[in-house]
Parts: sequence; structure tokens; C-alpha cells
Amino acid sequence: CDLLCVVGARPNFMKIAPIAAALAAHAPGLRVGLLHTGQHYDAAMNHQYFEALGIPAPDINLEVGSGTHAQQTAEVMRRFEPALDACGARSVLVVGDVNSTIACALVAVKKNIPVIHVEAGLRSFDRGMPEEINRILTDQISDLLFTSEQGARANLLREGIREEAIRFAGNVMIDTLRANLDRALPLSRIVPPELRERHGLTGKQYAVVTLHRPANVDDPAVLASLVDTLVETSKRLPVIFPMHPRTRSMLERASLLEALERGRVAVLPPQGYLEMLGLMKDATVVLTDSGGIQEETTALGVPCITLRESTERPVTVDEGTNTIAGTEPRVILGLVEEVLSTGGKRGKIPEGWEGKASVRIAVAIRDWMSRGCKA
Ligand code: UD1
Repeated sequence: CDLLCVVGARPNFMKIAPIAAALAAHAPGLRVGLLHTGQHYDAAMNHQYFEALGIPAPDINLEVGSGTHAQQTAEVMRRFEPALDACGARSVLVVGDVNSTIACALVAVKKNIPVIHVEAGLRSFDRGMPEEINRILTDQISDLLFTSEQGARANLLREGIREEAIRFAGNVMIDTLRANLDRALPLSRIVPPELRERHGLTGKQYAVVTLHRPANVDDPAVLASLVDTLVETSKRLPVIFPMHPRTRSMLERASLLEALERGRVAVLPPQGYLEMLGLMKDATVVLTDSGGIQEETTALGVPCITLRESTERPVTVDEGTNTIAGTEPRVILGLVEEVLSTGGKRGKIPEGWEGKASVRIAVAIRDWMSRGCKA
């Protein structure tokens, strides 16, 4: 193929879907391949997204699965190299900040194959986050960098990236959100009737929670405090908690799952895209440590309380509906009260989040490749 697009983990899928479609429409002469590293492999984290978003089946699946960061990154690299050789790609496109992103970018650049990074330049300035390392390193070795918010350019320039290599594209994840909003599923199709009844999920008000960051779920003390805070929150409004497999296993190990379920908290398995969109769209408030959800709630105009000390997506705070809360119970509960009494931040839609980012990217890639991958 000419261009090999890489996905690996759940947050990559909603980014690649519109890019693949826009490349087919706006660069029809380009032969585009899709490679899945297999970093995420559960149906709920994986196939469901391909189906719901109409992503073509990957041409190649490396089936790397889980492991430590070193194991997972190394395994992706080891398996990606021969796959890249076999397909003879002239360039490789990676998205986001997961281990698959840096692993494939690193293999490609060492073979002198130019790398395109979509969602470049985001920085939390917290190097304790594995994704921050992935972001910095991927940007350093990329040849064409598409940013999703305007502040990202300054981060890249500060790190010595050439100005000509940086293009403001807007947010491809929001392309997917806009394209699918009217297919979002209602709560009644997502939460089973007995859970709805038990937790009083009948009225309009509810909170949605997601948690999976190592800093929050791997430390039993932090996790216990977050569980307490969520149970407290559930005294004010029912809580729906679609649970990442990593979080479930940590809660089970710390015997905290029962405590959570004794509150007004409906614990669900990881949800598909249209389910998650439906849950967020009608939520009173969303509490999360995800990156993408901070953006999706801003696009939906739903207040978001971020359970982290920093964000790499500052536009969601400066212009959107997001508030950085950290993990202090008093702060989180105060913000929940504020949303209940005032309706929370209203925000506005950031520039380039109108649903056309993937078209801008496809056109730019077509022209760039026709110039021999020169910016
Ligand atoms: C990864 C990304 C993170 C992203 C998240 C979305 C990195 C460094 N992190 O974190 O940025 O926000 O995906 O979900 O790449 N597991 C399963 N089934 C799966 C996948 C994972 O059970 O399909 C469990 C395994 O126990 C695994 C653990 O989740 O060990 C962590 O998976 P991993 O891919 O290492 O990272 P995530 O926490 O999912």
C-alpha cells in the first residue's frame, strides 16, 4: 500500500474511522492499508467499535495483547517491522498517544519511512503519565503533524519541530461524534431494567463515570477514596459507571466493587461507541479521567469533571465544559453540587471541531504524498 494507517487501542478507533473515509473520498488514487496492533482485543473494547463506526476490517492484525509497557511496546515493534516490510508502505499514519502509536512510529522512522501523527502537540506536562512520553516522542519523529487544538502548535515549536511540518486540522474524534450523534442509543437500551429500577435511573438526572488511568486505579488508597466519592455523589444523583477491564480487576483485587455497588451506582461492562455517546449526551454531568471524553463532553455541551491533576487538552477547560478537579473528595463533591445548582459550565465549541477535520487531513496528506512526502 502507499499509506499504512495504524490502530491499537479503543481511543484510536473513533479517530481512524473518519480519516479512512475521508482518504477514500478525497485521495481515491492512494492505496490505504489498515493495521491493528491488537493492543486492545476484548470484543467490548474492539470489534464493537469497528462495527458501529463502519471501519473496514484491518488488513493486518498483530495480536500483541496486554503486557507491561516495555513488553507491549517491544512486541508491537517486533511484529510491526516485517508487516511494514511486506506491505511496502511509503508512509505510516499513527493517531493519539497509546503504546501502539509510539511503537509503530519508531519502527517506521528507523526505516526512513515518513510518519504522519494525527493529534500532535498535546501536552499535560506530567511525565508520570505514560501517554505523555508517547506524545513527546512520537511528535519528535514525525514528518507531518496534525493538531486538534490551536495551543498544540506552540508546544511543538518549543520542542524544536519545524513549522512547515505542523498543520492545524481540528478534531477528528469530533468528526465521528457529529456523524453519529443521531444514532446514539437511549439509556433504556443500555442499562438493564432491573438496574434502572434499583438505582432510580428513571428521571432525567444522572452522572456518568469512567476511570482507567494507572494513577487513579493502580493505587488502592486513591482508588478507595474515589470509590467513596462516587458513593457520596450517588446520594445526590444516580451514577452510571461503564467499567474498563483494568479498573474492574483493580476494584476486585482491593475488594471495593461491593462498596461501589452498595451506592446508587450502576456498574456496566465497557460500552460500545453509540451506547457511550447516548449515555454522555443526556448526562447531567460526566466524571472521568479519560482524554477523549473531556473533548466529547465539550462538543456535546455537557459539564465534565476531570479526575486528574492536569489535562493535555486545555481548550476543553479554556473554552469548553471541562473542569480539572484532581482526586480530592471535597473538590469533586463541590463541583458536583455546583453543576446541580447552576447547570455547570456551558462552554463553546472550539475551532475546527465542526466535523470536517478528517477532510482537511485527507487533502493535506494527498498533496504531501504527491510531493514525495515533503512538507
Ligand atoms: C490504553 C492507553 C490509554 C487509553 C486506554 C483506553 C497506553 C499507554 N494507554 O490504556 O492511553 O486511554 O487504552 O482504554 O497505551 N485489557 C483487557 N482487554 C482489552 C484491553 C486491555 O482486559 O481488550 C486489560 C488488561 O488487563 C490489560 C489492561 O486492561 O493489562 C491495560 O490495557 P493496556 O492496553 O495496557 O492499557 P489501557 O489501560 O487500556
